[in-house]
Amino acid sequence: MSYILVLYYSRYGATAELARQVARGVEDVPGIEARLRTVPPVSSVCEAIEDSIPDTGAPYVELDDLRNCAGLALGSPTRFGNMAAPLKYFLDGTSPLWMAGALIGRPAGVFTSTASLHGGQETTLLSMMLPLLHQGMLLVGLPYSETELLRTRSGGTPYGPSHLAGPESNLPLTEEERRLCLALGKRLARAALALSRMSSD
Ligand SMILES: Cc1cc2nc3c(=O)[nH]c(=O)nc-3n(C[C@H](O)[C@H](O)[C@H](O)COP(=O)(O)O)c2cc1C
Repeated sequence: MSYILVLYYSRYGATAELARQVARGVEDVPGIEARLRTVPPVSSVCEAIEDSIPDTGAPYVELDDLRNCAGLALGSPTRFGNMAAPLKYFLDGTSPLWMAGALIGRPAGVFTSTASLHGGQETTLLSMMLPLLHQGMLLVGLPYSETELLRTRSGGTPYGPSHLAGPESNLPLTEEERRLCLALGKRLARAALALSRMSSD
């Protein structure tokens, strides 16, 4: 069965929870499934040697998970208004896919978590879109028909779902944040199915 790759990095768990909700949204759509994957941390001091399977949580992503996905949901915590280095490190290793044009025409969406409300949700989401545009992916955001966008007092943007985790990184997802994750998952799943029908016509 075709799948949406839900790929994220999370240090304290907030982005991991967003990823699980996006995956639930994907799984709500018949005919496609979600594949949850993460990336190992990187070290600026020396090359970290990681087990190939993490102790907990989603398995580490392989290039083939990305090569063969029908669509991508990419999630990162904010790091100074930008995506986190472990995710960027993985993306910087995807030039074989770029050279082959492997991801051209596939749908992609992004999600993030921040400590503070105005600490860079939108900039992080936009920064994550840049490499996906270079790969030729079709970006999927959230329309205002998802009315949680108008009601939310915490996360949730038209550029993608987001979460306000607070300074201790321990706030649970609000109902609006959770619903917007589900909405992104569904939109990606439906877009991927529609695009694959169009390409087989
Ligand atoms: C190096 C570093 C930089 C950060 N930069 C920001 C920032 O610019 N704005 C913000 O609101 N939070 C910032 N944070 C906080 C994290 O983005 C926030 O705690 C996030 O919810 C963590 O997600 P996680 O639980 O998935 O790891 C930063 C955290 C670290 C460690």
